[in-house]
Amino acid sequence: MRTAFARHAAATVLAFGLAGAAPAAQLTIACGSNAADADHCGRFAQEWGRRNGHTVKMYTAPASATDNLALLRQQFAAKSSDIDVILIDVVWPGVIKDHLVDLKPYSQGAEKAHFPTIVANNTVDGKLVGMPWYTDAGLLFYRRDLLAKYQLRPPATWDELAATAKRVMEGERAAGAKDFQGFVFQAKAYEGLSCNALEWVASAGGGTVVDPSGAVTIDNPAAARALDNAAAWIGTIAPGGVLNYAEEDSRGVFQTGGALFMRNWPYAWALAQAADSPVRGKVGIAPLPAGPGGRPAATLGGAQLGVSKYSKNVAAAAALVMHMTSAEVQKHRAIGGSYNPTIVELYKDPEVVTANPFMAELLPVFTHAVARPAGATGLKYPEVSRAFWDAAHDVLSKKSSGADAVRRLDGKLRQIKRSQW
Ligand code: GLC
Repeated sequence: MRTAFARHAAATVLAFGLAGAAPAAQLTIACGSNAADADHCGRFAQEWGRRNGHTVKMYTAPASATDNLALLRQQFAAKSSDIDVILIDVVWPGVIKDHLVDLKPYSQGAEKAHFPTIVANNTVDGKLVGMPWYTDAGLLFYRRDLLAKYQLRPPATWDELAATAKRVMEGERAAGAKDFQGFVFQAKAYEGLSCNALEWVASAGGGTVVDPSGAVTIDNPAAARALDNAAAWIGTIAPGGVLNYAEEDSRGVFQTGGALFMRNWPYAWALAQAADSPVRGKVGIAPLPAGPGGRPAATLGGAQLGVSKYSKNVAAAAALVMHMTSAEVQKHRAIGGSYNPTIVELYKDPEVVTANPFMAELLPVFTHAVARPAGATGLKYPEVSRAFWDAAHDVLSKKSSGADAVRRLDGKLRQIKRSQW
């Protein structure tokens, strides 16, 4: 039977326990949805939880960035506390800023070690709404073995890419690989298509849809031609199904040996090199090709981690964010998952560079990546992007010519803008 003293002692221990350490929190972190995220996000978050006496659950975001944003916005509208740590796409800070906590009181200046342009992107109205987690840029993955077999090289222009893809595709099909494809990319009607189409347009000198001053620039002949040029790939060097491909669909085809070229983000490197990958040791990475008279352009992507204003455990969630974005975790994620670090120093780390030679070789691709017009269009970016990917999808599916599509898109964007963004 417990005495009054024993009861008092137990209560004292409990009180001291609570005062000595942060109370145990139940946290949910939003991780990405690709094949490596459970390993490279969930694992580190859960280890941190165990070490700090918290429970961390992983929320797997939908595969498409567009669906992901729609779900988040529903959660925010309901002031839901279900997700504490939010994965923030590089184009979202201006869109979801009002639902995120200012991390400055928790970061203690840690953001100074990260690329300043990303920190600036994540700083809205003086608030640091996300800590940089990884950065992305569009890359051209190619089959090194097949280019060698046909004595060809990675293409410098989109026309060269089309010619090389045709040649190898015909050769491989004649040799028995009946479904072999020349080029796979992301042409489903979603945010990923805006990224691909921006690369075609910008690399042809056709601008960035809306320029940094907020002017709508898409209605120009170089942009129209770039879209027409891409439409000509569908059903010739790319399968018709690409019109419904997101990142993981393209990777599925490429990694099983079904295509010569793939446009994708860095994460695809670690998976292509995995022990069970049929293309392990056969893949090279090059900058994306240039358009006529233009220069190669890679769309800037990437993710930040932030804390929801509706979290019931803001301090613990912020501590988790600081851990996940630290040099230690970014290094592991770079080596194991080929996620490009946002901490400048890690690009000099021999283990990071040995696992990912492209990170050092193609550093200019990452430092000069082209931003989507999210900064200029702020809260209206999702509408702008939707209008752009719809126009691109119409051209790719031969419902519209490039010239008609960019003219109509220009009108649509001016309507969305009205007097100001
Ligand atoms: C990648 C990029 C992100 C982009 C998305 C589009 O996740 O990091 O910025 O919006 O792809 O599919």
